[in-house]
Amino acid sequence: MCGIIGYVGKRQAADVVLSGLKLLEYRGYDSCGMASIVPNKNAISVRKLPLKVAELEKLLKKKPLLGQIAIGHVRWATHGAPNQVNAHPHCDFNGEISVVHNGIIENYQQLKKDLVKQGVRFKSSTDTEIIPYLVAKYHKDKTLLDAVKETVGVLEGSFAICVMSNKEPDTIVGARKNSPLVVGIGKEENFLASDIPAFLKYTKDVLYLNDEELVAITKDSVSLYDFSGKKIDRKSSLVKWDHEQAQKKGFSHFMLKEINEQPDILENMLIHRLKNNQVGFEEMTIKDDFFREVENITIVACGTAFHAGLVGKYIIESTCGINVNVAYSSELRYSRFIPKKNTVLIAISQSGETADTLAAVKEIRKEGVKVLSICNVLGSSLARDSDGVIYTHAGPEISVASTKAYTAQIAILVLFMFYLSQIKNIGLKPNKETLLKKLLEIPQLQRDILKNQKGILSLAKRHSHFGSFLYLGRNVNYPSALEGALKLKEISYIPAEGYAAGEMKHGPIALIDEYRAVVCIATRSFVYDKMISNIQEINARKAKIIMVANETSETLKSFTKEIICVPATEEIFSPLLVALPLQILAYGIAVKRGCDVDQPRNLAKSVTVE
Ligand code: AGP
Repeated sequence: MCGIIGYVGKRQAADVVLSGLKLLEYRGYDSCGMASIVPNKNAISVRKLPLKVAELEKLLKKKPLLGQIAIGHVRWATHGAPNQVNAHPHCDFNGEISVVHNGIIENYQQLKKDLVKQGVRFKSSTDTEIIPYLVAKYHKDKTLLDAVKETVGVLEGSFAICVMSNKEPDTIVGARKNSPLVVGIGKEENFLASDIPAFLKYTKDVLYLNDEELVAITKDSVSLYDFSGKKIDRKSSLVKWDHEQAQKKGFSHFMLKEINEQPDILENMLIHRLKNNQVGFEEMTIKDDFFREVENITIVACGTAFHAGLVGKYIIESTCGINVNVAYSSELRYSRFIPKKNTVLIAISQSGETADTLAAVKEIRKEGVKVLSICNVLGSSLARDSDGVIYTHAGPEISVASTKAYTAQIAILVLFMFYLSQIKNIGLKPNKETLLKKLLEIPQLQRDILKNQKGILSLAKRHSHFGSFLYLGRNVNYPSALEGALKLKEISYIPAEGYAAGEMKHGPIALIDEYRAVVCIATRSFVYDKMISNIQEINARKAKIIMVANETSETLKSFTKEIICVPATEEIFSPLLVALPLQILAYGIAVKRGCDVDQPRNLAKSVTVE
């Protein structure tokens, strides 16, 4: 997955594109580059290198790019190694066209063969490099917009592109198919980017492109078309995020900032979604009558979103008695989906751009199943591919490791449980008022946990030398164990496995010895005693135990001194609390080990390719 940006307007374009690339770097950072059209000469000039944006900034200081129109790119390599020649932008041989691209052109080999037959000599091993040659070919007798329109007509797969031509030095043409692209509308300037934070400090006025749409921007105009060339009139909208919000707010990493944002996000969500003890989703376009008939739910997601879905399963099944299946998107998209009667599909995705989840939704919609998505990015592809969407409004999640989006997804699933119980007149135990009162306490309980983050961070540092971790949980906190393990492994690169505690005796206990750290989630629950007996088995094998519990009783202290206390709450809401210490634990260990917490190796914030 990559990040692209284009700028045309009153400022020095290189400055704007560089600042945008810094805010897109979470999308990919194995190489980056920029191209501008040099004023008066109408020549395209390029600077690119297989390094991070900070190195590009140094290069630009030595060899500035002039001009008021430029495009830029940060890369997460899919085709071709991360090296100089494969970095974007890519140009045609004569340097008339320059392109940046996010996505995968699935039919590029055939198109490349055809171009080679026509005498083209490619420099890179990327799929992208065919695009400037195709545009140049059509541009001979067409405008840049029409040349790009012809080009995207022959491309298959996923792409968001920005294209410049030295023959039209005041225009950038963008196009999108299965990859995100948004327009930022300014005064005597306009922007194109993969994601809103890239231009947020310049404008909050955003126009979303749908799949298979083109846009031509100049400093004073934005013109939108579909791939057939038909003009589209669409209103722009003002985003609520400010530029500051997308920054770190004084925290050393985006991840720590985002961990600390969780109470406010949940509090705002409850304020806006709960009125007189009634749950409302103002953006919901699926009718209550449909949900009234729902008997089966399938949740589809990847990674952390999958873990949130698993928490949702326990919550909805235990309260509403509705059958919930949870599947990995990458598995479900290639499995035979047999829709049961009155099934709704819930697709969960922070970015709304995860290729596997988009593909699974597309496949299952063919079966006539209605799709409700839970997304964090307004106007994302998944939001547009669904029959209904509920936004988590967690604000931009910049750190690759998902934290605030995870608890926001769980909170939406809790509210959705109340929503279903309202529509279906399901009696809840304890009753709805009691449950809602407990739910409204959660943001403050999260704040109480965060007050102790320094203590958790020092515990983390004391355990950062362990070579592997096992995370154990039961029932609604079994997914908490999976998520805790994912957090640790993805940012500290330490092997970590989440397991249902009851599964210990079926294999994992063979791993337990004094060299292993075991994180046990032992909050009060109807399976608490079972969890304690698992901890006894671990303790007998001398493993290092870290516990997340509601108290530091003598029993628990007999197993370990390393107890992280979280306040007690309704069992089904406890994952909203347990998540925080496990996030901070992973963060502290990764920082101690000197890892790149916000941009871990090999990862990208949104996996927009298979
Ligand atoms: C989470 O920390 C990971 N970065 C990753 O597992 C992520 O949750 C997964 O790729 C799904 O992303 P999405 O929510 O944007 O679809």
